[in-house]
Amino acid sequence: MNPGVAITAEPGFENQARRLAQRLGLEYLDHHDPAPLFLLQFAKGRLQLQQTGDKAPGPVYVEFDQGKAAHRRRQGEGRKTPLARAAGMKAGFLPDVIDGTAGLGQDAFVLATLGCRVRLVEQSPVIHALLEDGLRRAAASSQTGEIISRMSLVLADTTEYLMALPAPARPDAIYLDPMYPHRGGKALSKKEMQSFRKLLGEDRNGPELLHIARQTAGKRVAVKRPRKAPFLGGQQADFQVFAPKTRFDVYLTAPPADSA
Ligand SMILES: C[S@@+](CC[C@H](N)C(=O)[O-])C[C@H]1O[C@@H](n2cnc3c(N)ncnc32)[C@H](O)[C@@H]1O
Repeated sequence: MNPGVAITAEPGFENQARRLAQRLGLEYLDHHDPAPLFLLQFAKGRLQLQQTGDKAPGPVYVEFDQGKAAHRRRQGEGRKTPLARAAGMKAGFLPDVIDGTAGLGQDAFVLATLGCRVRLVEQSPVIHALLEDGLRRAAASSQTGEIISRMSLVLADTTEYLMALPAPARPDAIYLDPMYPHRGGKALSKKEMQSFRKLLGEDRNGPELLHIARQTAGKRVAVKRPRKAPFLGGQQADFQVFAPKTRFDVYLTAPPADSA
């Protein structure tokens, strides 16, 4: 499934690591030599993905209680932020959201912080395991437990998940953040993106995902894109919401009264 990933653990976490290795069909390593491209490690009280090799970036893990996600929560980023507006949040209305490209759950956490219920769907068993671990730790924290209670996690290909969704379970909004095509240039992408690209390759199913999402969302689909990128799959959006480094293309699936 992920031939370049193996699992290892600090002393005391070996059994947990063995169980995860069995569940994900990955190899458990007592001594990681020769090293695979990635190690999924139980270390520092969390599950983390560490790329191997001399110039490898630091570990990738899910953290809602520290760092950027916690900063956003403390700043009380409100309903007028571009992501919230793109998802259709407004006074008196909190959309029920499916995040169809969950990744490390950062965008979903912002929406849940603002009060939305968010179903996170992730196709990669390795990324799903990282998310599951981050959600478990954050659920136990007094700072984030209430927010996490609005988030649920699904391991699935979102296209298949949406196609099988019964009508009453359809969300108001579907949010998509497919991986951007890799562009050359001087700026190095964030360590998460570098590792994601190596682990998962490019997202090639974005246009199909958008097509199915537009048939499933009760009110709208929001797609995160680089500011100057073309529309995903050439599908023209109804309107766009711009942020300093990114842009959200919004596709309305309900009558225009909802477009504010
Ligand atoms: C750029 S990352 C999303 C980052 C996320 N918005 C965040 O805030 O952390 C894209 C993620 O979408 C997942 N993905 C792409 N296509 C998918 C699909 N069809 N079904 C489920 N997950 C998918 C990838 O595995 C990857 O983890």
